Amino acid sequence: MFLFPLAWVIFYIPTILADESGALVSGKRISDYSASELWARKGPKAPLPPPNGTSPHFKALVIGHALLCVFGFAVLLPAGVFLARYLRTFRPWWYNAHWIMQAGIAGPVITIGVVLGYMASGAFGKTAGDNHKTYGSVLFYIYFAQCIFGALIHYVKPKNATRRPPQNYVHALLGLVILSLGMYQIRTGYHQEWPQYVGEGILPAGVTSLWLVWCILLPIAYGAGMYFIRLQYRQEAVARLRIRKPGLPLQMSELEV
Ligand code: HEM
Ligand code: HEM
Repeated sequence: MFLFPLAWVIFYIPTILADESGALVSGKRISDYSASELWARKGPKAPLPPPNGTSPHFKALVIGHALLCVFGFAVLLPAGVFLARYLRTFRPWWYNAHWIMQAGIAGPVITIGVVLGYMASGAFGKTAGDNHKTYGSVLFYIYFAQCIFGALIHYVKPKNATRRPPQNYVHALLGLVILSLGMYQIRTGYHQEWPQYVGEGILPAGVTSLWLVWCILLPIAYGAGMYFIRLQYRQEAVARLRIRKPGLPLQMSELEV
């Protein structure tokens, strides 16, 4: 699943580093720095001077990064969440659709998007660290942790449970946190990073309007899907009882929802 982005990173990063005109945008080329200078500039403490004119190469990396990250975090991940919220009570294949969307489809898109971000900001820490970069990396790790966690709660289920396992709530809650942080990350991306590093001024006001509309629509759409929550809990209670008392006829009063 991750072979494609991996191969892409392995083969593409050296090309980018070799492409001196695009690797650094502060007027200097990689070969102009000594190895110790490059390492000294790694991290937020000793940033390189801000770019005084951006190469088309840098801009292309940022645009690719922004488009893929927005598509991954604001379209694909929410789609996977809605698949779960709306389909789980009606379609037994909701789980497959959910993990394929979240890991199989969103995974490569997000991975390539974030790698483009790293490439834009420089393999050697070209620009100072800021919230967008720090939280962007953290969000990426949380996303991966969430995929592993999702698989764990699916395959390692408590035996003879009488209630919903708490870890299932944690996964759902963390999923919503990821969506919220993703929207925040998009905001800092287009509102702070773009004007600061791309050197083309701020983006049109329509971008903020679109972002706001999306921030409002996502929770409304998820909240509306809560309409099915009672039915879902009832179905899950029946399933738990069937495991504990196989073959016995079920009474509604026995359900521990
Ligand atoms: C390999 C990847 C994943 C697997 C195997 C997986 C698995 C699951 C499972 C088993 C559930 C049911 C939990 C429950 O009973 O409530 C679930 C629900 C959920 N997952 Fe994932 N998940 C994955 C990735 C993600 C990611 C990356 C997100 C982040 C956006 C996410 C967000 C959610 C949410 C919000 C729910 C609750 C949906 C609802 O309202 O019912 N999942 N997932
Ligand atoms: C959820 C979406 C996003 C995530 C997870 C994300 C994450 C990241 C990461 C991890 C980096 C590199 C960090 C580093 O080098 O330490 C980065 C850099 C960058 N991002 Fe994003 N980003 C997102 C959205 C955006 C958007 C929408 C834009 C602009 C429209 C944007 C603009 C930038 C720029 C300009 C840089 C490079 C800054 C520099 O030259 O140092 N990002 N992002």
